[in-house]
Amino acid sequence: MSIAQKIKSNPQLKKFVHRMLIPKGEARPRLWVKLFLNRFFHFKGKGAKVCRRTRMDLLPFNNFHLGNYSKIEDFCTVNNGVGDVFIGDYTLIGIGNVIIGPAHIGNNVILAQNIVISGLNHEYKDPEVPIHLQPINTAPISIGDDCWIAANAVITAGVSIGKHCVIAAGAVVTKNIPDYCVAVGNPAKAIKQYDSTKKEWVRL
Ligand SMILES: CC(C)(COP(=O)(O)OP(=O)(O)OC[C@H]1O[C@@H](n2cnc3c(N)ncnc32)[C@H](O)[C@@H]1OP(=O)(O)O)[C@@H](O)C(=O)NCCC(=O)NCCS
Repeated sequence: MSIAQKIKSNPQLKKFVHRMLIPKGEARPRLWVKLFLNRFFHFKGKGAKVCRRTRMDLLPFNNFHLGNYSKIEDFCTVNNGVGDVFIGDYTLIGIGNVIIGPAHIGNNVILAQNIVISGLNHEYKDPEVPIHLQPINTAPISIGDDCWIAANAVITAGVSIGKHCVIAAGAVVTKNIPDYCVAVGNPAKAIKQYDSTKKEWVRL
């Protein structure tokens, strides 16, 4: 049995280890985790850059991958506490983005400014219990290679965006978007798609 399995199978030990990593009720890991531990568990590719004014809420028990030559701009928050965060190669995470895993962002993606990508939702089913005391649920978000997600877009849990899509500014994407589409609005709808026989973007 590995050390991780031993910890997971013992609830008291699991709670203790969790407290060592992160204070009660917090999303931000303890400083020692950030300074000494995460580097042994997470991948940061060649030429990848995380700007200084970011809030990287990263824990070692879930994956974080930042591909080669990718960049996370200032004022971003990245959280892998409830799911892995994968960012491919040559991808730009623009100023002020919030990424909460589970989320998979491909290669050569541009995320503009102030985008929220959250693979986490709060349960709200029991009206007698405050929502913050109800469980959370997660569903992975996937953003394909070569996409451009414009400013102030929101991508909700469980959504897949195909390859080479444009998501317009302010769009709220609640359903999957196929490859090679331009999607706009709230809820976002595809309005254009690339036609490979005509070799042009056509209105839907
Ligand atoms: C999506 C975008 C790129 C335009 O793409 P486009 O293919 O040139 O689209 P068009 O300008 O031909 O517009 C097509 C339709 O979508 C609508 N539309 C365009 N952008 C929209 C938006 N952000 N929200 C809602 N509708 C939008 C247009 O009004 C038009 O509607 P109509 O056909 O009813 O007149 C642009 O509108 C956009 O959102 N840019 C983002 C800018 C940004 O965030 N920059 C940050 C720097 S990285």
